[in-house]
Formats: sequence, structure tokens, C-alpha cells
Amino acid sequence: MTALTGKTIVLGVTGGIAAYKAAELVRLLVKADAKVHVAMTESATRFVGPLTFQALSGNTVWTDPWDTRMSNGMAHINLTRQADLAVIAPATANFMAKLAHGAADDLLSTLCLARDCPLLVAPAMNRQMWSNPATQRNVAQLRADDIGILGPDSGDQACGETGDGRMLEAEDICAAIIAHFRPKLLAGRRVLMTAGPTFEALDPVRGLTNLSSGKMGFALARACAQAGAAVTLISGPVSLPTPSGIARIDVRSALQMREAVLREVGRSDIFIGVAAVADYRPVATATDKIKKTGETLTVEFVRNPDILAEVAALPSPPFCVGFAAESRDLDTYANGKLIAKKLQLVVGNLVQDGMGGDTNTVVLFDAAGRHALPSESKDDVARGIVAHLSTLLV
Ligand code: C5P
Repeated sequence: MTALTGKTIVLGVTGGIAAYKAAELVRLLVKADAKVHVAMTESATRFVGPLTFQALSGNTVWTDPWDTRMSNGMAHINLTRQADLAVIAPATANFMAKLAHGAADDLLSTLCLARDCPLLVAPAMNRQMWSNPATQRNVAQLRADDIGILGPDSGDQACGETGDGRMLEAEDICAAIIAHFRPKLLAGRRVLMTAGPTFEALDPVRGLTNLSSGKMGFALARACAQAGAAVTLISGPVSLPTPSGIARIDVRSALQMREAVLREVGRSDIFIGVAAVADYRPVATATDKIKKTGETLTVEFVRNPDILAEVAALPSPPFCVGFAAESRDLDTYANGKLIAKKLQLVVGNLVQDGMGGDTNTVVLFDAAGRHALPSESKDDVARGIVAHLSTLLV
């Protein structure tokens, strides 16, 4: 079972250069196990041939309202009636104007008007077209009509200009589609998280760090966002892309992480400390590279502040979740942290089960006791944590 198993999606492609990205979107949706039916406007077919979408989706591509291949001649109604979701990507300014006004002068606009499923729209246009008051009026109307607007992104445009209006990347649109189907267990909640390792500098080129990959923290950030939370992720040095829709702050050392957390924590309802924060840092960082002189090198370390304990001890703390990565006696240590740091939830795992890999085995500890989650991918484990966490919120 993958993210979109059992879901049928109608993908509408309209006439913009970003239509080529829609081909990749179909591939990602099919990979996530969705059934995809593509409908194209006549101008979209000038950019990418229907055959491309047919090959990628494995289904007939629809362009013509008079197509007689639909058994009852009702392609304009049937396609979206069988669908769980309709997505327009790319959506041109012209198509959004038609949607906003309920026009139905081709197959795709008719499908949208006749649909009884939700609709998401990924705009793609030149920055002037996007900022034009007419387009902005239409976008406001679509939002008022409960149509989801994905993006647009900002950056280089096919016309050579730079600004707002680029279509989101296919990965981001696919992530938004997956998020659309997730239960919104954290709707309206603001989540602050730490993830990854910290790096404690010894000199300008060396330092102490650990093997945390950040994968669990990033998976949890993604799961929180998909559950409807506004997520801020403070990350130590990792080589992971930022999950879609998440505000990311990059830091290096434990002290920088603490400073960022204390700056942000007032705006959060939930704090989740996933980072493997170094317990100690060198007393001093050498300004110049340390030269090899003697046979041994002695470095003096000082304790780092415990960020999670500090947040939990604030006068009105957020709901606090900690992680306990242990090499043995998981229950004793995890329960110990729950009490000592005054947390509401501790996610415990044996380091040999999770660190660096793509799967994890965790046990959740709260005031009611221990709850073992099945051994799964970090994304699935993250969703399990979110589901449990949401039951503890008041
Ligand atoms: O006490 P221990 O380091 O094992 O606790 C782990 C939990 O505490 C994790 O949630 C980790 O993110 C957090 N922590 C922290 N600041 C530290 C050490 C740990 O926030 N200096």
C-alpha cells in the first residue's frame, strides 16, 4: 500500500510551457499507486503530445468534449464523477479566469464545472500575468470557492524574466496531493521541531558531530505538515531537501540551535526535539587550524544546554515531545526522560534499529504507559507518531 493506493485523480493540463512538468507529475502519481486520467486543453496539446500522457498514465487522454469513446458520450461528467480529486497543472491565467467565472467552453473547463470532487490548481504564468489584478481577483475567487491553490513558485521563468508565477515542481505538487488525502489531525497547530546532528567546531576546519542523518526528523516534519500543521524545522547540518510547505532554519552548533528554538518557540503549540544535540562542545574553538605537535591532543569540553528541557521548563511551555535513542534499557531511559525533562511524550528507539537507515522501530512513552509502533519506513513511523500525539492534545 502506498500513499495514493485506491485514489483516482483527474489531471487537467492547460497550455503553458510548464506542461512538460505535468508529465513528471503523472509518473510520480502512478508511482504512488494512483489511477490517473489526463484531460488536456487544445493549447496544452501544442506543448506536449497526448501520447506522452497516455504512455505515462496507461489511460486514454481526453481532449475533446465530442469524443465518442466514452460509452454514453458523457466524458465531461463521467471523468470527474469517478475521481477522488481533480488537479489542474499547469493552470494558465486564462484557465483560472474561466474557472473563476464558471465557463465551460471546452472539455476540461466543463469537467471542472460538472465535478463533485475537490479541485487543486497549480498556476503557471509570467510574473506580470500572475500579479495582474484580474488574475489576483480570480485567485481570490477560486479560494473562496474552496479550490486549493498550489504555489506558484518564484524564480527564473521560461520567458527569461524572474519572479512569482513558476509552477511548483512535480515533487511538490505530488506531495500536496498526498497531503490532501491525509487526515488533518494537526489542523491549526503550530509545530516547532529540531532535527539532524549538531556540529561543534574544534577549529576552522574540524569539529565533533554524530551519525544522525536527519531522516526521522524530516519525515516527522513532513507528516506534521501533511496533518495540517504549520511547521518550522530547525535543522543541523544534513544533506536532505526541505519537505514541501515547511519553514526551515539551518544551524550548525547546539548553541545556534538553542538560540533559534528560543526565538521561535513563543509562536508554537508543539515542540518536538528530534535533533541529536551534542551533549558537550569544546570549551574554546581555535581561531587557527590546530597543528599536529605532540603525540596526544587534549581537548576540554563543556556541557551544552539541554534545549528540550529548557523549552519544557518555560512558564507556559508548548506540548513537548522528546526522542530517546538508546543502545539498551530503552524503557528505563525513555521513561526517565519523560519525567526528568517534564515531557508529554517520548519516542524511544534502539539506535541499532534506526540511526541513518530508512526504517525505524519505535516505542512511544507517555503518562499512560508504553505503545509500540510497528517497524516501518520512517514516513510511516512518523505518521504513527503524529496519530498518537494528536490523541494527547487538548
Ligand atoms: O537526554 P538525551 O540527550 O538522551 O535526550 C534526548 C532528547 O533531548 C531529544 O529529544 C533531543 O533532541 C533533546 N536534547 C536537546 N538538547 C540537548 C540534548 C538533547 O534538546 N542538549
